[in-house]
Amino acid sequence: LSHLFFTYQQIPYPVTMCALETFKALDAFEARSDDIVLASYPKCGSNWILHIVRELLSVVSEKKYEYSEFPVLECGDSEKYQRMKLFPSPRIMTTHLHYDKLPGSIIKSKAKILVIFRNPKDTAVSFFHFHNDVPDIPSYGSWDDFFKHFMKGQVSWGSYFDFAINWNKHLDDANIKFILYEDLKENLATGIKQIAEFLGFCLTGEQIQAISAQSTFQAMQAKSQETHGAVGPFLFRKGEVGDWKNLFRETQSQEMDEKFKTCLAGTPLGTKLKY
Ligand code: PPS
Repeated sequence: LSHLFFTYQQIPYPVTMCALETFKALDAFEARSDDIVLASYPKCGSNWILHIVRELLSVVSEKKYEYSEFPVLECGDSEKYQRMKLFPSPRIMTTHLHYDKLPGSIIKSKAKILVIFRNPKDTAVSFFHFHNDVPDIPSYGSWDDFFKHFMKGQVSWGSYFDFAINWNKHLDDANIKFILYEDLKENLATGIKQIAEFLGFCLTGEQIQAISAQSTFQAMQAKSQETHGAVGPFLFRKGEVGDWKNLFRETQSQEMDEKFKTCLAGTPLGTKLKY
């Protein structure tokens, strides 16, 4: 599958979604201090937090937003940054980039960054199914084959562990908040309230409950074709914690536990991630 990636600054990106010219143009991206950046490794819940933030913003601004108003920072054509100059504030963008691959203007601007993490085992399983279920993207021969690539970071956006190590150094920064997929799953309303507080949005308990009801997996899956087109049903696949147990062999589980310990033991993320 190596022809389906190109490498930029040591990270593999999918040729179907990213382009070298876009990365070059990204260097000159002009951030605003009221931009909101939603960061995650693929399959950790990016679309979930985007939906929540979109709902929160719709309530506080009394306006409905289209998904096209929330670009993935590093994907698409290189002209997008010109178009984004015309977007009203607050602009919301998602990204799968490492912290140190973000354009310098985002770091300098102190824009708010919300990062969502998910345990690496469920993340890998979700990633595998996405590749093998969606008709137009390359499939891996088997779960074992995907697992090997995932552990070596030979997948789109590179290694989960490098991403986690990189972001882990910044999780206590004042403009950054990190949340866990597993916590959001356990108590959605509390997670939404925390996100609203972090973004400085003032909502009533009733409004939080209403957003919570629209942000469950079932509610989002039911609307997935409307919100995300043909890929929707594949993107909102199962939405569970612990699905890894259906695919991981015992040896693979141990190998990932070891890697996780080596990379993250004793750090804020290493202590909090659950699975
Ligand atoms: S992507 O393609 O990288 O942007 O994918 P991403 O949105 O980050 O992650 C997709 C997984 O998130 C699950 N998801 C949810 N889980 C629980 N509740 C809600 N509301 C929800 N929304 C999305 C989605 O189902 C994918 O996980 P899996 O395990 O494959 O189902």
